[in-house]
Amino acid sequence: LLGMGSAPHHDRLRHVGSGGISRLNAVVLGEALAAEENDLVFPSHDFSRHAHISSPEQYQNMYERSIEDPAGFWSDIASQFCWKKRWNPEVCSENIDVRRGAVKIEWFKGGVTNICYNALDRNIEAGNGDKVALYWEGNEPGQDAQLTYAQMLEKVCQLANYLKNVGVGKGDTVIIYLPMLMELPIAMLACARIGAIHSVVFAGFSAESLSQRIVDSKPKAVISCNAVCRGAKVIHLKEIVDTALVESVNSGVPVDLCLIFENKSAMKRESTKWQIGRDVWWEDVVPQFPTKCLVEWVDAEDPLFLLYTSGSTGKPKGVLHTNGGYMVYTATTFKYAFDYKPSDVYWCTADCGWITGHSYITYGPLLNGATILVFEGAPSYPDPGRCWDIVDKYKVTILYTAPTLVRALMRDGDEYVTRYSRKSLRILGSVGEPINPSAWRWFYNVVGDSRCPISDTWWQTETGGFMITPIPGAWPQKPGSATFPFFGIQPVIVDEKGNEIEGECTGYLCIKKSWPGAFRSLYGDHERYETTYFKPFAGYYFTGDGCSRDKDGYHWLTGRVDDVINVSGHRIGTAEVESALVSHPHCAEAAVVGVDHEVKGQGIYAFVTLVDGIPYSEEVRKSLILAVRNQIGAFAAPDKIHWAPAIPKTTSGKIMRRILRKIASRRLDELGDTSTLVDPSVVDQLIALIDH
Ligand code: WT7
Repeated sequence: LLGMGSAPHHDRLRHVGSGGISRLNAVVLGEALAAEENDLVFPSHDFSRHAHISSPEQYQNMYERSIEDPAGFWSDIASQFCWKKRWNPEVCSENIDVRRGAVKIEWFKGGVTNICYNALDRNIEAGNGDKVALYWEGNEPGQDAQLTYAQMLEKVCQLANYLKNVGVGKGDTVIIYLPMLMELPIAMLACARIGAIHSVVFAGFSAESLSQRIVDSKPKAVISCNAVCRGAKVIHLKEIVDTALVESVNSGVPVDLCLIFENKSAMKRESTKWQIGRDVWWEDVVPQFPTKCLVEWVDAEDPLFLLYTSGSTGKPKGVLHTNGGYMVYTATTFKYAFDYKPSDVYWCTADCGWITGHSYITYGPLLNGATILVFEGAPSYPDPGRCWDIVDKYKVTILYTAPTLVRALMRDGDEYVTRYSRKSLRILGSVGEPINPSAWRWFYNVVGDSRCPISDTWWQTETGGFMITPIPGAWPQKPGSATFPFFGIQPVIVDEKGNEIEGECTGYLCIKKSWPGAFRSLYGDHERYETTYFKPFAGYYFTGDGCSRDKDGYHWLTGRVDDVINVSGHRIGTAEVESALVSHPHCAEAAVVGVDHEVKGQGIYAFVTLVDGIPYSEEVRKSLILAVRNQIGAFAAPDKIHWAPAIPKTTSGKIMRRILRKIASRRLDELGDTSTLVDPSVVDQLIALIDH
């Protein structure tokens, strides 16, 4: 069915010690911990004492209730939010078993609410209007701004009023293609306020990817800016939007309105190309609108946003999240996994263009009334100490980032870290890919001065929020393990046939039962939703990840088992890269695999066959890479092009990726059986061309 993929990751992550560690149960029972305590990293007593959840028992009790009585558990939490109308008594209705008919997940059905109201107005009503909602740090040190909750609400209302005025209403889609300006979360919240569906496209995507998303979601408007500086580079986003909109017109999806923020520090409006009638400067219109805007109350199951993500086929999937369950879930996971307290200053280094920025920059933190930091720049600009400079400047207490950045900063040396105080930090977080134990330890010892628990949060665009994550005050951590499930989550590990495996094991990670933050569909393609996620192992949600459970019950994610690779925490389908490569006129065929990469986690390794008569050359290589940059974005550019006279295929015509992965990682003694190939000599030809 599926290959067990990404073996190198798994090897690296197979956890350190084996014998002698007490079970979580033993910890629960207060038994003394046996020997190898080195493998366990305990929160300090002081930390635990002040934590929301301060012991394994407390977690266990809450977890058990969340599984035995999900309706009661989640209703109690949901009651803390503002609802115009309460949900139906059954709280959750679901069918995730394809054998019983269409997959359907509903939480808080019948409830009527608004997530923007809950994130802003509710916090202001509770007396937090003057609390800083958002600190903004620009690309250049010294460039900054801030907004209180009350000020943020005013800005959101002005944009919401403008959007309503130009005819954007409930159920309409708006594409947001913005860098990390404060206008990005403002735009998301403005859409949510009026019941419009936002679809944020990461501003590192190319014109072609943007237009693909426009064509699929048919937005009423596109919100963007003229340009942005990232590090020493200026990126002309408006030009990318212009190109994308020409392409979308050609595909029969014209966009009538393009709202452009003038990002003055990057580019002046005079030098921005303009299409009169379609393009409107944000600053010319939005500030003229009233600073109050009544919310559009929406059904809990009305769509909140679409976010496109990569799958194992070429076409990105529009992951659909709805209002009620997503609100309750992101808020609750944020609170417990980061042990959030009102005095915290929270910084997530992700971009709002990915799910991490949706759930844990915009929604989860603001729903808790938190102070968030939005950083426009690049983490190593002007030098690799920038992150710690920012931490000290804003007294950041919770820092949530990705293993790829940890590894990059680790390579730059401790000096850049230790020259800053970092005393404010109390919790660190990791997301996007498995964090290897050595990066974990550096993050823990050097960045966190061996004082801050690390929440290694495993989740996905599809899950909306954390699924397997440490609860930092509750139990000891193991470097590289995402530990235990969040409340309401029942992870199971299954074998090839879909049988649940108990105890210490490795297999495919699935989830039993739904949870409030689960995605409800793929936009316009419910059938693909069922086929991709619910059919591989009937009765379960299939995550696409491999996972081991150790004898203490800790979970160790081992990477994707499908044709998806994870480059610097960015998810990329191998098929997408292949289709970009074969669009190049000189490329006859391409096969892409992920390969271990010291900093990025995985790198992109492409085997390419050129059309007859075209010789391999450096020039062709560069133009192939350019084709990928143009079609997807710079982050998807292959790290290596391996010339391939032919691609190894089975007699049924399937590319043998297993062999390609071994060649790519130079593990030539592990090629295994090649006899099922149509032409086994292809393998020797490929090996001969290594380093060519
Ligand atoms: C895939 C989801 C969820 C936000 C960022 C990525 C991998 C994510 C972890 C982690 C091991 C992780 C998985 C997953 N992943 N977090 N803490 N440990 N693996 O979201 O783009 O939807 O990618 O990222 O492989 O399936 P995404």
